[in-house]
Amino acid sequence: MRIPTIVANWKMNTNLADALILAESIKNGTEDLENIEIVLCPPFVWLYPMAEKLEKILGKKIKLGAQNAFWENEGAYTGEISPKMLKNLCEYVIVGHSERRNHLKETDEMINEKVHAVLRSGLKPVVCVGEYKMMREEKKGRGRPDKIAMSSNILNQLKASLERVSKNMISNVVIAYEPIWAIGTGHAATGSYAAQIINSIREKIYKMYDWDTATDIRILYGGSVNAENISEFVRQPEIDGVLAGGASLKAKEFVKMCQEMA
Ligand code: PGA
Repeated sequence: MRIPTIVANWKMNTNLADALILAESIKNGTEDLENIEIVLCPPFVWLYPMAEKLEKILGKKIKLGAQNAFWENEGAYTGEISPKMLKNLCEYVIVGHSERRNHLKETDEMINEKVHAVLRSGLKPVVCVGEYKMMREEKKGRGRPDKIAMSSNILNQLKASLERVSKNMISNVVIAYEPIWAIGTGHAATGSYAAQIINSIREKIYKMYDWDTATDIRILYGGSVNAENISEFVRQPEIDGVLAGGASLKAKEFVKMCQEMA
């Protein structure tokens, strides 16, 4: 059973007071919801106070995640945070977000190292993959992915990010399909289009591992998801949840999204 999952990527937003209020409001607003997983990913520095604030309920429905981690556990790496440091603070780590690929020039190789480091520490990576340009068929609004652009891009990123990840470990991985053209633009992909790409990702996992692995792995959609359009994604059986940026900073909207998903 793939548990429906909603990841809130707060990016470099909030101050401590806002973060705690937001977390509290999400906690209160989602108390009645069952069988979903909510992963809040604040900036690193709010993880500890949030873990304290949410202590009693953490680990059940609401989990914490980091937005990044380095691939070594310690050493002379100024400014970096290691998976070992995050180990008791959170359960998930977003790896390979397009904003890091773009602004920090993270490569598939670096992302693969990070995936391994996160898994070695017993944490779960949320591995992001996605293409830069809107594919031809999505532009026409017919919601059919362009096969060539897709295989040369998304599936290669996927394969490179998961290089040498064993069958035992892959069950701790969550994948997020995030078309870069949809992130922060207000132009989400169509639900059917996202479902088709996610289906191809699942097929690729099947080829790389096996049927059980492909059936069990959670694959999310991310890119301008909000309370208005979330149902378009979560009603697709292929899509196991969403990764939200902007909309996850608004308590009411995010709670509504959790309700829609549940
Ligand atoms: P967005 O961000 O929801 O604001 O488009 C998604 C993301 O960056 O993961």
